[in-house]
Amino acid sequence: MRPNERQPLVAIHGLSKYYVRGDQVIPVLLDLDLDVFEGEYVALMGPSGSGKSTLLNLIAGIDKPSAGEIRVGGVDIASLSDSDLALWRSMHVGFIFQFYNLMPVLTAFGNVELPLQLTGLSRAERRERVETALELVGLTDRATHLPNELSGGQQQRVAIARALITDPTLIVADEPTGDLDRVTAQEILGLLARLNDELGKTIIMVTHDPKAAEKARRLIHLEKGVLVG
Ligand SMILES: Nc1ncnc2c1ncn2[C@@H]1O[C@H](COP(=O)(O)OP(=O)(O)OP(=O)(O)O)[C@@H](O)[C@H]1O
Ligand SMILES: [Mg+2]
Repeated sequence: MRPNERQPLVAIHGLSKYYVRGDQVIPVLLDLDLDVFEGEYVALMGPSGSGKSTLLNLIAGIDKPSAGEIRVGGVDIASLSDSDLALWRSMHVGFIFQFYNLMPVLTAFGNVELPLQLTGLSRAERRERVETALELVGLTDRATHLPNELSGGQQQRVAIARALITDPTLIVADEPTGDLDRVTAQEILGLLARLNDELGKTIIMVTHDPKAAEKARRLIHLEKGVLVG
């Protein structure tokens, strides 16, 4: 099949997002169109405040658009109820944050296992999956560590394992290397590239770092709520 005959995994049409604060309307995203195909690795760049995180959160179903349509895997996610959206998100999206967002009272194992609690998998099945994911990110020997007993890079590896554990359709990452030193950042970027290359995962990554963006297969720019170039 030629690429232009495929259905996009993420299809965005006429997407706008406004925030309302009192009598003030803050326009953030203005009538965006964007298609992302399965297996793509996309870097989203743009100045601070241009709406990158807002766009990522909309694609991930963490937030809802003011206008327009977002289809992910054929599902019009804006039309889902909040509870259906939460369920959809838990099955289809893996989210990686700048500051890892791990649960401080859970071990690495417990954090990675968390998204599986919503599934019907048995304890033994969950254990097997978590062990595989921790092995993939090179943290088998840190499974029983709490987040504060891990380095920043290791915490981000746990977060990546957690993002992968449900075998999601889409992985979104918001400045995943923003809090890491250059060497550790390169390791995390290498891991994301492998998820794309070897596991065929579709990745959309927000970054300020041109080196990080280089690793992606496609670069898109957001300026004041509009996609440019
Ligand atoms: N809940 C909110 N209420 C009102 N305005 C908001 C809200 N969230 C974000 N904004 C505004 O939307 C704009 C875009 O924010 P966003 O977080 O998407 O930017 P960004 O491109 O991710 O920036 P950065 O690179 O600094 O992370 C900003 O001007 C911000 O002030
Ligand atoms: Mg942001």
